[in-house]
Amino acid sequence: MLNEALGYAHNNHQRFLDELFELLRIPSISAFSDHEPEMERAAGWLADELKRIGFDNVQVFPSEGPSFVYGEWLKAGDGVPTVLVYGHYDVQPVDPIEEWDSDPFKPEIRDGKIFARGVSDDKGQSYTHLKAAESFLSTSGQLPVNVKILFEGEEEIGSLNLDKFVEENTELLAADSAVISDSRILAPDQPSIVYRLRGLTYMEINLKGPRRDLHSGSYGGSVYNPAQAIADIVAALHDDNGTVTIPGFYDKVRPLTDRERSVLAKVPYTLDDWRKETGLDKPWGEKEYTFLERVTIRPTCEVNGIWGGFSDEGAKTVLPAEAGAKVSMRLVPDQDPEEIADLFADYVKKLAGGDVKIDVFTHSTGWWSISPLESPEIAAASRAYEAVFDNEPVFTAEGGSIPVVATFQKELGIPTVLMGFGLEDNIHSPNENFRVDHFYKGIDTVIHYLCFLAENEA
Ligand code: BES
Ligand code: MN
Ligand code: MN
Repeated sequence: MLNEALGYAHNNHQRFLDELFELLRIPSISAFSDHEPEMERAAGWLADELKRIGFDNVQVFPSEGPSFVYGEWLKAGDGVPTVLVYGHYDVQPVDPIEEWDSDPFKPEIRDGKIFARGVSDDKGQSYTHLKAAESFLSTSGQLPVNVKILFEGEEEIGSLNLDKFVEENTELLAADSAVISDSRILAPDQPSIVYRLRGLTYMEINLKGPRRDLHSGSYGGSVYNPAQAIADIVAALHDDNGTVTIPGFYDKVRPLTDRERSVLAKVPYTLDDWRKETGLDKPWGEKEYTFLERVTIRPTCEVNGIWGGFSDEGAKTVLPAEAGAKVSMRLVPDQDPEEIADLFADYVKKLAGGDVKIDVFTHSTGWWSISPLESPEIAAASRAYEAVFDNEPVFTAEGGSIPVVATFQKELGIPTVLMGFGLEDNIHSPNENFRVDHFYKGIDTVIHYLCFLAENEA
């Protein structure tokens, strides 16, 4: 079964790529509400594809946001595990568009990489699971295990309707474990399994001062300027060490176990890698933690955007009537994202001095997660990576967030294997890309994974 599937996948490389390109041409940007037709086009495209491959019970579930897409193949029998695959078909906005070397929605191959928005995050990575399934179904007519697939279309804006969907469909989604390909490995010759993800609380602050923009000469010196106020607030979020100053922020942070410390010590990510990726020289932040700890296992508070007043060409003398900022916090065990939102709002409201009206609201919250380091699924995943990448995977802690992992744990009681195939790939940035060979290796790894999982009993 394994070899037939691998052979089929290899013989169909070009067609798989052409099909992925079709999906990549759909600009499914979840952040923009006017993109709803594109979201539904992507959802429909995936549903058609699932049917074509041979999945049963394929459904497009409407929601308040973009639709969920579901399909299943459950004919492997009762004694065989069921695996739930998750992916997201939404992508990030493309701005700044002028920084792209090719159209983000006209995929192109250069230097062995596919360039397109969403190719690594997450269309190309999640598509490996569909092509792996097709490779089995088109050769032996069956899969080694039972497979359920769920796609959502609003992961990039905080999975606003996902928890409700999972809660309402626990039976439909019931499985023994989940697998997600939406993360990166350390290097082409160093596969890795993410065992820990940070959570996220995303806030917005809006300040209102004078009833209208004012002449900065006539009124300057008498008004607590909202742009000044937002700068003061943002400046007060950290102390000089880079430690977050929100009272209570660190109260629930769980210390690292010795096991985790030794796992992290094996991660071969260096300051030089960081320098190459960022173009920066000196890492900022909490001095008592290594830079690797700062980007993985420490909670953070970051300004994502700040606005207020005049920023066009030239000089305009004005006191702005409004200003604001979007601030997100990455969270770690055992911080509670809702509680952190409250702590943030209380603190920031107290900081807003002078005659400035403040409004603070929560965009989204998502939980952190920790996956087991030892389990039959992890063993199968390690073997699968080793078979394809010729190297044993290491465990990594990831600074980014995939809140569905915590939702699956809570609502379905199942662990998730984070089986990524990406590299840094410029995700969320201009020139997002995904190596062609990692797309193919991803398919091969999933094929191996399903076979190895079948050797575990349900
Ligand atoms: N695939 C990423 C998460 C990720 C990033 C994993 C880097 C591994 C490496 C995911 O699509 C993402 O961007 N998540 C958001 C979540 C948020 C909107 C709740 C994130 O981390 O900002
Ligand atoms: Mn993603
Ligand atoms: Mn993303």
